[in-house]
Amino acid sequence: MSVCVVIPAAGSGTRLGEPVPKAFVDLGGATILQACVAGVVASGVAERIVVVVPADLVDAAHDLVPDAIVVPGGAHRSDSVRAGLSAAGDADIVLVHDAARPLTPPDVFRRVVDAVDAGHPAVVPGLPVADTLKEVRADGSADPIPVVRTVDREVLRAIQTPQGFTVAALTRAHADDAGLATDDAGLAERCGIPVHVVAGDPLAMKITTGWDLRIARGVLAERRAQAERAEVAEELR
Ligand code: C5P
Repeated sequence: MSVCVVIPAAGSGTRLGEPVPKAFVDLGGATILQACVAGVVASGVAERIVVVVPADLVDAAHDLVPDAIVVPGGAHRSDSVRAGLSAAGDADIVLVHDAARPLTPPDVFRRVVDAVDAGHPAVVPGLPVADTLKEVRADGSADPIPVVRTVDREVLRAIQTPQGFTVAALTRAHADDAGLATDDAGLAERCGIPVHVVAGDPLAMKITTGWDLRIARGVLAERRAQAERAEVAEELR
């Protein structure tokens, strides 16, 4: 089975409050995009990596991730995914993986690919929800907001990426795009394609806010320090 990983990275990421689009923000020695591609390469699953970036940053992205195919994205995330899918070549399986999740461990990629390979057309990584969840009446400007009910969290999962699909399933899901889904699996569900969840990982967290960025920089700094300590220990042996 040939696997292509499509990395949508064409968002502006304004919630981060940084002067460059999110994927081009530095994590301390590497941009979010570079760290994300390095994670995909480390997983060993991908024959082809397609990165989707804002049109004016295609050349810059080429320089940052020379091993990936770079294509320009669109106005909405789903437009960017379709642009990436059209560059997937003759892949059998496509993984769509947000650039905003650069710390995703290799095992998550493998679990998703294995489940698609085993015959599931759409597979997403997910985590149980730790907080109590309440539905609120969010249609007005009331503050405090009235609670409608408490939701049973046992049947809920917080969904991450990479989301894996057979090429046929992803193509069909995006052909029916009404522009409302917040992820690719949501589009698949809407056209009746069964979606299955495998175990996600807290490290597959999405960088959305400045706080997330601080956490990601801290994790990478810790990894680098660990690698340096291991190198020194090896030299002393
Ligand atoms: O905005 P959000 O954080 O949900 O975006 C998820 C991913 O989709 C990000 O990696 C972002 O760069 C990408 N995206 C894109 N094209 C857009 C909007 C978002 O590739 N037009």
